[in-house]
Amino acid sequence: MKIETYTFTYIDEFGDTNTANCRPNEYHSLMELLFDKYLQEWGDCKGRAWCGTCHIQIMEGHSNTKILEDEGHTLSKLSGSNACSRLACQIPVNAELHQMAFRIISDNDYGSK
Ligand code: FES
Repeated sequence: MKIETYTFTYIDEFGDTNTANCRPNEYHSLMELLFDKYLQEWGDCKGRAWCGTCHIQIMEGHSNTKILEDEGHTLSKLSGSNACSRLACQIPVNAELHQMAFRIISDNDYGSK
């Protein structure tokens, strides 16, 4: 039996491009996947869309998951946020991740610019 795997690309906080793999519904969200497999320091609010530490900007691909009120409110408070911004904790691990490319926006992008 063929095991489905999604592959996506992300640019980390150091500007390096990385490729990652996952299986359908392997994690509750993209934030949990990256926290567990690849990153250390994010997800401060444990996926409640409150802290903004899991800010990403999608460069290729698209998530059809709607931006709900909490996510929209948090994104509006992040100075580096733009029309491509999402919170990774609100993105499910599904086929939309396959061949997606996104950039992780680090803490250095927050604050008063
Ligand atoms: S983990 Fe806090 S906003 Fe996503």
